[in-house]
Amino acid sequence: MSPPDGREAITRRGVIALGGLATLCAMTSADSGDDPVFVSDGSLPAVLLPPAPHIVMAALDVPAGQEAVRAFAALARLTRDPGEGTQAAVALGASWFDKAGLTGARPTALTRMPLFPGDVLDDGLTHGDLLLQVSAATAERAHRVSASWRRTVPSARVRWEKRGFRSDSRLSDGRALARNLFGFVEGHGNPSFLGGPSPAEVVRVASGSGEPRWAAGGTYQVVRVIRFATRLWDAEPVQVQEQVMGRRRDGTWLDGTAPVGRPAFGADPDGKLTPLDSHTRRANPGTPGVAPPRMLRRGYNFHEGPDSQGMLFVAFQSDLEGGFAGVQRRLAGQPLDRYTLTVGGGYYFIPDLSRSDPFEFVT
Ligand code: HEM
Repeated sequence: MSPPDGREAITRRGVIALGGLATLCAMTSADSGDDPVFVSDGSLPAVLLPPAPHIVMAALDVPAGQEAVRAFAALARLTRDPGEGTQAAVALGASWFDKAGLTGARPTALTRMPLFPGDVLDDGLTHGDLLLQVSAATAERAHRVSASWRRTVPSARVRWEKRGFRSDSRLSDGRALARNLFGFVEGHGNPSFLGGPSPAEVVRVASGSGEPRWAAGGTYQVVRVIRFATRLWDAEPVQVQEQVMGRRRDGTWLDGTAPVGRPAFGADPDGKLTPLDSHTRRANPGTPGVAPPRMLRRGYNFHEGPDSQGMLFVAFQSDLEGGFAGVQRRLAGQPLDRYTLTVGGGYYFIPDLSRSDPFEFVT
């Protein structure tokens, strides 16, 4: 039977292998702390539950053919039960669909991550057929779980690996907060579990959205490996840093609005209080015709030495244009770019493995 949206049917070989994943629900959740508002129906736990403080991200390349499908299935099965306080997900890159012979089943916007202005991408830190991510309470556990799972798919080659950590990680007002290596709190601008569009609404692909049916409930994941010029940044007075960011270090807006509020940018049309080109104002200017970004950011710091430190920027969204890609274009030329350099990352898709019928349209 042809898929209803006219896309090429995925092969029976793929259906048999992937259909089995319907039962591979990654139900294990990390400790959600004392915050009762963090609820999950069991889907996308590594996205929607509060992030564990240490992560290992491993981008893997797999052989073409049946082995590509097998490698994904094996890792997805393991993400089902990562153990106490551990979260895991395996995401699919555009190249995986080609290697698996399932090009026609690819989510519509899933491409190889394009080069954005200013990027200096290192091929050894970019893309990958699969992205295995394991986060846990300790770096040691995240590493041990990730390494042992990778040993179960010996055909997979590690294309790149990064370890990250969240500093001062905490929950506040229905959001997960952490401090980046520039000393600023991140997370206040994310969707909240307390009101507004919920994180689940923002990240999950809705059925009937023009995506292949199996993709409903899943999410597009963007990873950017961003190096920080911390020496240059630390040499700036805090007031300059705050003008570049458009917020104070604790998240308070430059006009004094509380971190969870929205400043009255309309009363500051020339950017005297909050510069028009500051990071947060560019990201979400609140002007007519520019919709608020629909994305859930959940970055990790990395620190491998004085010349290699920064952020593993991670964003989840149901739609790349309404999320990362649209915002990234608006940010081009922002003063923050003087202190950062994007050297890697990729575009991926995390399927909702808790669904009972992710590939029902070809059965
Ligand atoms: C280059 C490294 C980056 C740093 C140091 C950084 C830092 C920050 C900080 C401190 C905030 C304010 C707190 C918060 O709302 O979380 C923020 C907000 C935000 N950032 Fe970034 N960010 C970076 C990259 C990016 C990228 C690559 C994107 C997307 C393309 C992005 C999108 C946003 C958005 C959408 C907000 C929320 C704006 C709002 O609604 O208030 N950021 N960022």
